[in-house]
Amino acid sequence: MEIKFRSDNTAGASTEVMAGLSQVNVGTALAYGEDEISERLSARFAEIFETRVSAFVVSTGTAANAIGLAAVVPPFRSLLCHWNAHIYDTEGGAVEFFTQGARLVPLHGQLGKIEPTALASELAAGGSARLHSLPAAALSLTNLTECGTAYSVSEIEQLARTAREHNLHVHLDGARLANAVVSLGCTPAELTWRSGVEILSFGAIKNGTIDADAIVVFNRQLAMGVTERLRRAGQRIAKARFLSAQIEAYLSDELWLRNARQANRMACRLAKGIERIPGAKLHFPVDGNIIFVSLPTFCIEALRRDGMEVWHRNVDTNGAPIYRLVTSFETSAEEVDGFLNALGLAHETRKARD
Ligand SMILES: Cc1ncc(COP(=O)(O)O)c(C=O)c1O
Repeated sequence: MEIKFRSDNTAGASTEVMAGLSQVNVGTALAYGEDEISERLSARFAEIFETRVSAFVVSTGTAANAIGLAAVVPPFRSLLCHWNAHIYDTEGGAVEFFTQGARLVPLHGQLGKIEPTALASELAAGGSARLHSLPAAALSLTNLTECGTAYSVSEIEQLARTAREHNLHVHLDGARLANAVVSLGCTPAELTWRSGVEILSFGAIKNGTIDADAIVVFNRQLAMGVTERLRRAGQRIAKARFLSAQIEAYLSDELWLRNARQANRMACRLAKGIERIPGAKLHFPVDGNIIFVSLPTFCIEALRRDGMEVWHRNVDTNGAPIYRLVTSFETSAEEVDGFLNALGLAHETRKARD
C-alpha cells in the first residue's frame, strides 16, 4: 500500500545534487570540514543571505536544531516555542539532551504561529526575573510552521523584537525555509537576520539533498558555541566535503528555490482540487507544501481500495482524523491529478449508489 504525500522526506535527491556528489568523489581532500568546498560554504551562504555568516553542515534537521539551540540556551534556562514545534514534540527530547536540561516552554497561537500576546505575557509573567524557575534564554520559531503556514516578515519581526527586549536569542527552525521564502516572495535575508533571527537551522534534506542540512549563524558571536558542540554531538563529519558538495549544488542556480516553488505549486494544485470535493475540509491556509485536511471516510476507503493510504497524526474535535499531505520538488501534476481523480471517482460512485 502506497502512502500518498506522506512526507517531503520520502523524495529522492535532486539530479544536480547527485552530480555535485560525483564531482567531489575524486582524489583526496582534507577531512572534518577543512576541505576546499566546506571552507567556502560560509561565503556561499553569505551571498545567499547578504551578510557575513558562519555555516556548519550537519546530517539531520534535529542535529541542527539541538546543537544550534544548545549554543544559546544554558542548562538552567528555558526556551520558548510553539506547542506544535518540531523541537517540542517530535525530536525525542534532543534539545533537552543537548542543552543538558534546559526546559522547553510551549506557547499558544493559531495556525502554528506563536501569538505575540502569548509571548509577551509569558515574558511579563516573570521571564528572566524569575528566581525559582528557569528564565527564558531563547525563542525558537519554525518557518514554514508545522501547520504549513508561513510567518510573514512582519510577524517574525514583531516576535523577535519582543524577544530581544527581554534579552532572548532568536532561533529559526528552517526545515522548510525555502518553501516559506518562495511563498512570501521575500528575500532569505528579510525572513531571517533582517527580521531578528540570529541562528538558523537551514533545511535542505526535504527539498533536494540526501543528508545535508546546515546551521547558519548570523550573530557570529554565537558561532563558537556551535563549533564547540559539533564533535561531541557526532556532527564533526569526517568526509564533510560530501555534505558540503550537496549544499553547494543545492544553492547553485537557485535550485533550492526552484525546488520549493515546484513543491508549493503542487500543494496549491492539490489543495484547490480538494476544496472541490464535497465533505472535504482544509484546516489551515496552504502557504507552502503542507496540507491538513479532513476527508469523508468513504473517500479514505476508496483510496485504500486503489492501493493508496494517507497519513494522519491529529484528530479534530469530533475525534475524526486530520490527514497531513506533503508535496515535494518531485511531485508531479499527474500525481496530484491522479489522487484528485481517485477522490472524485469515490464521490461519483457513492452518488450513483445512493
Ligand atoms: C519543522 C521540522 N524541523 C525539524 C525536522 C527534523 O529533521 P530530521 O528528521 O532530518 O532530523 C523536521 C523533520 O520532519 C521538521 O519537519
